[in-house]
Amino acid sequence: MKGTIQNGFGDPNEVLGIGEVATPVIDDDGVLVRVRAASIHIGAVYGVRGLPKVMRLVFKRFIAKSGVIGQNMAGVVEAVGKNVTQLAVGDEVFGSCKGAFAEFAATTSEELALKPTGFTFEQASAIGVSAFTALQALRDHGKLEAGQHVLVTGASGGVGTFAVQIAKAMGAEVTGVCSTRNLDMVRSIGADHVIDYTQQDFTKGEPRYDLIFDNVGAHSLPDMRSVLTTDGLLLANGAPAPAGWFGGLGHPLKVAVLSIFSKQQGRPFVSTENKEDLAALKELAENGKITPVIDQVFPLDSAVDAVAFVGAGHNQGTSVITM
Ligand SMILES: NC(=O)c1ccc[n+]([C@@H]2O[C@H](COP(=O)([O-])OP(=O)(O)OC[C@H]3O[C@@H](n4cnc5c(N)ncnc54)[C@H](OP(=O)(O)O)[C@@H]3O)[C@@H](O)[C@H]2O)c1
Repeated sequence: MKGTIQNGFGDPNEVLGIGEVATPVIDDDGVLVRVRAASIHIGAVYGVRGLPKVMRLVFKRFIAKSGVIGQNMAGVVEAVGKNVTQLAVGDEVFGSCKGAFAEFAATTSEELALKPTGFTFEQASAIGVSAFTALQALRDHGKLEAGQHVLVTGASGGVGTFAVQIAKAMGAEVTGVCSTRNLDMVRSIGADHVIDYTQQDFTKGEPRYDLIFDNVGAHSLPDMRSVLTTDGLLLANGAPAPAGWFGGLGHPLKVAVLSIFSKQQGRPFVSTENKEDLAALKELAENGKITPVIDQVFPLDSAVDAVAFVGAGHNQGTSVITM
């Protein structure tokens, strides 16, 4: 089968290639999916670049034995192991795996759910790491309540477009921060207010926020705290692009340490993919609460360009690869 193979760490154009690899073999608990679409999140690009270097062992765990990369996909069940009872050949599914950027991917039924009704494969594949991150940030770490005011930076990106929609579904008042070209899109997915960061610095404005979900990391901590309510929470999700051994990790850690001295809280977090939240996201999708914003769609043969595109950091929602 054809797949997107990573050979070492570095620039996507230098270490990625499209090539022939063996179709994955499943064991008794496995599910083989004929992939129809796979989404790319920015973390996958960090994994290709291998930055920060201290994370390289972790990044390697997300690569399939064949060298194929990619974590989130949607497709059709091609084969199931003899212990698999929840899925059958022909089911349309979405979820996670190792080696999503290929014609076939092996995973388990624990990591899959039936594709949301009415969703395309592209849309279903986009409900991946970014959507889990937005859900867990707002619900678990942010404990967002109806009526609270949340500010989402990077509102136009992979995480931000899910965060705006999930925060609205939770009954919050939502302000999205994005660039001029994305104002209409961020409004269209439900933001009550939009701030164009090229024209206005939200840390100099009047409104105070109960929760800031920061997917960019462009502001200093004192500036962020100046627009938090007295017991507000800053969730530090984004940081300037990782570099060197530890670059990119300092910002969220600083946020955590400084909150020890204040009623205002700051917290970094790492999202996880699990079956319960996959079901929760499917429900949000089927109830019309989240609709993935799809940016570019690349054929598998252009997967290297796709990864490089996402790596440039200007995604409008999520970009996907189709097979
Ligand atoms: N905690 C976790 O487990 C976890 C999981 C996933 C992702 N993350 C992190 O979350 C961050 C965001 O990821 P993502 O997938 O959403 O990235 P993305 O898809 O690349 O989106 C970033 C968005 O931010 C916009 N942007 C750039 N500069 C901005 C600024 N100063 N103010 C507001 N918006 C700005 C970009 O659009 P324009 O350039 O056009 O404005 C783009 O739409 C990354 O740092 C990633 O590492 C963390």
